[in-house]
Amino acid sequence: MGGVTGLTPPAGLPEGPPSGLPDVASLAKLAGEFFSALPTTALPGGATNGLPLGLSHLGGPSQLATPPQPSEPVLALGARAPALAPVAQTQTGLPEKAVDSAGVSSRSPAQGVPEAYAASLPSIDLPQAPVQAPATPPSSPYYFLGETSAYPVADEVDVPREDRVTARSFGLPGEDELCALLGGVPPTAAAPTAEPAKKDQWFYFTDLTRNENGRAPASQAGARPPFDVNAVRRDFPILQERVNGKQLVWFDNAATTHKPQAVIDRLAYFYAHENSNIHRAAHELAARATDAYEGARNKVKRFIGASSTEEIIFVRGATEAINLVAKTWGAQNIGEGDEIIVSNLEHHANIVPWQQLAAAKGAKLRVIPVDDTGQILLDEYRKLLNDKTRIVAVTQVSNALGTVTPIKDIVALAHSVGAKALVDGAQSVSHMRVNVQQLDADFFVFSGHKIFGPTGIGVVYGKRDILENMPPWQGGGNMIADVTFERTIYQPPPNRFEAGTGNIADAVGLGAALDYVDRIGIENIGSYEHDLLAYATQGLLTIPGIRLIGTAAEKASVASFVLKGFTTQEVGEALNREGIAVRTGHHCAQPILRRFGVEQTVRPSLAFYNTCEEVDRMVRVVYQLATSRR
Ligand code: ALA
Repeated sequence: MGGVTGLTPPAGLPEGPPSGLPDVASLAKLAGEFFSALPTTALPGGATNGLPLGLSHLGGPSQLATPPQPSEPVLALGARAPALAPVAQTQTGLPEKAVDSAGVSSRSPAQGVPEAYAASLPSIDLPQAPVQAPATPPSSPYYFLGETSAYPVADEVDVPREDRVTARSFGLPGEDELCALLGGVPPTAAAPTAEPAKKDQWFYFTDLTRNENGRAPASQAGARPPFDVNAVRRDFPILQERVNGKQLVWFDNAATTHKPQAVIDRLAYFYAHENSNIHRAAHELAARATDAYEGARNKVKRFIGASSTEEIIFVRGATEAINLVAKTWGAQNIGEGDEIIVSNLEHHANIVPWQQLAAAKGAKLRVIPVDDTGQILLDEYRKLLNDKTRIVAVTQVSNALGTVTPIKDIVALAHSVGAKALVDGAQSVSHMRVNVQQLDADFFVFSGHKIFGPTGIGVVYGKRDILENMPPWQGGGNMIADVTFERTIYQPPPNRFEAGTGNIADAVGLGAALDYVDRIGIENIGSYEHDLLAYATQGLLTIPGIRLIGTAAEKASVASFVLKGFTTQEVGEALNREGIAVRTGHHCAQPILRRFGVEQTVRPSLAFYNTCEEVDRMVRVVYQLATSRR
């Protein structure tokens, strides 16, 4: 294992300090306090606080290294904000192992997280979370509800590349010019050959070859610059905010994500140059607004792999999206005695609309259980399925635990009994490639604000033949073809489901957010975040009295925990005093927290603009809190 070990003084240096001088640990502590009081400051070796990453909360000595230089140009995407100093760069770029025992699966190769961190931590034997399938009961015990109680258009617009809003639209150099300026290769160049990251590269390299079919993914086609977290951070102006005198650390990404300058600019551009209602007028601005709105629909279609823009309905967010499906498809297709399946992991938004529907129709809600790691028990799910099952509505990633569910299997099993499948993608779409056709999902929903877009905009994807047979849920303008006092003829999808003036600007902003994610590459994002989550998990596990809630082998973004002797509120407030934002509470997912015997957790949730140094800051605060009453 190469890189910084952080624990041994360099050869030739005495083991202890000369008498009269403070010892190394005290110096390190003083240095840490000094540098953490400053705005983020780049230091040799990439550590920003003078201490090796991941060690400062343990009070270990530091070993600084010569800063390696980037060997390729690094392009910040959409950045116009003032530059931040680099933070938390890896020494080597490549750790040798991921952290299986911490509940994050190992993938090869892991990237972006300093190996020194893992090497320096005490080894911790986590109990292997057991998967205790009951001894083949005749039918699943895991269904609860409804047994005895009364519980209850436009044509597709393919926006030509040259017509899209780009840097050039704002009078700035385009991607090609920027690449040329930086000495890079324009994005139209041939696909790169995969080269292993060199040990001394200081940015976060990613595996350009990783995909299912052996080709460079579309988002990585062409020789794009490597993923560099520091360049990415410059695209998000809010990350420069200071909270309680400290630079903001945003670990509340599962609640909402921040917006890159490209999205902020796109919204401003819409209101400055395109603002109009859509579809109704012959004037120029109506045409611009309509093009922008339908262009955004097309971007969503491409991003999630739908076959047509007619399958993309704009709504307020994932909650409204699920309500739309329950109140249209559900009202039409669920009857007395029918069964609806959800999982124990669901957000309230994927429980309550189905509960309401079941109550109204006399249907049953059945619940797939999870094992002690927080993963869905597929065998139990199989037992729930039968010829009365009409729809299975399950999340792809749990907002409270971070579990990545086996969603493709869940959809296929639903189809095996003739049921439809709705996938809640609110927590998945910003972390992993989603292709609704490959998933074979009948419905897929997500919120724009969780994928770096504006609030108040979200998406229902529905298979075209299903949407065509669904009734509208709201009546009004836009959704009609013809109205008399005797009857109304509706528009085909998607307009049938978009009554009234929609959130035009924010749909356009969502399109810009998806473009931004595409430019970085969702595979790059997923890979980096995977390693960062492993790093955070390992760091949290050094803290006395901590209990992770959710340790499934496949997780994304979330590291929920409780701390013995402290309320979640106390932990959240301690973190906030240091400028670190996490969500505390039940996360709108009470059933799954109760499955683990808790009412609330502290929930750090990561995005690709977070860094190891930020993780270190969080771990240090929780560590100090945990040890403060001992
Ligand atoms: N659903 C969002 C969360 O998990 C609000 O925090």
